[in-house]
Amino acid sequence: MERMERNTTRPYRYGGNWMYDVLKMDTDIFGLKWRTTFSEDSEYDDDMDCIHLPPEEEASGVHFTECNVKVLKDTYNLCSDVKTILEIGILKPVNENDMSTTKVLHSLKSNDVLYLGVDKRSTTMKSENHRMNIYCVQTCSSNKEIVLRRMKELGSETIDVLIIDGWHSVKMTVNDWEYVNHLSPGGMVVIHDTNWHPGPITVFDAIDETMFKKKKYCKGKADWGIGVAHAKF
Ligand SMILES: C[S@@+](CC[C@H](N)C(=O)[O-])C[C@H]1O[C@@H](n2cnc3c(N)ncnc32)[C@H](O)[C@@H]1O
Repeated sequence: MERMERNTTRPYRYGGNWMYDVLKMDTDIFGLKWRTTFSEDSEYDDDMDCIHLPPEEEASGVHFTECNVKVLKDTYNLCSDVKTILEIGILKPVNENDMSTTKVLHSLKSNDVLYLGVDKRSTTMKSENHRMNIYCVQTCSSNKEIVLRRMKELGSETIDVLIIDGWHSVKMTVNDWEYVNHLSPGGMVVIHDTNWHPGPITVFDAIDETMFKKKKYCKGKADWGIGVAHAKF
């Protein structure tokens, strides 16, 4: 494995990916090999959403790139018999040319597929469209009881496609990963921002390859990155 640009004040390249210096703690969280945490004497902490911005040559003004759109579409089309999508972090861009996970998912899914979006913003419920089976919960994604109760009320107890794109800290990404406890066999987990944000980078690295086929896409480009983990169970 290559390891270069090592400097604790910046993420470093590791095996072609960006990585942060984190501790790997024993865990019994389903699907993870370890629980990631910054050490107590680190200048960073587990609640930080963004620590560094990409170098200029890797920066992109585009939030959800064409590469991201392609990966999400290909991933969705690979899933057979999707009944339920759970998305953490909803965004419907105002500008019709801008893309987002939310916009792509809404356009891909058929009306018999339940989409449940979770976002703590006050505008959250405006995204609902019951005719299209699109429902939302305005809450922090750590309130799993509220989210799972709503999912059950809407007739679903398992998730076929889980999108993690909320608060990108280590702590919250681990929290959001725990929805994997409700992933159906063969289900997919898509994590956005796997190039630069500490939670997505380090949690994706922790995913157990014996349980998930995982791959990061859109690396090393002007892109925030996207990772896909496909359940082997
Ligand atoms: C980067 S946007 C991503 C939205 C969308 N998935 C997209 O592709 O654009 C992150 C969203 O997550 C929401 N968010 C941040 N922290 C959250 C939390 N703890 N629980 C639920 N939503 C959260 C924010 O309000 C914001 O709308």
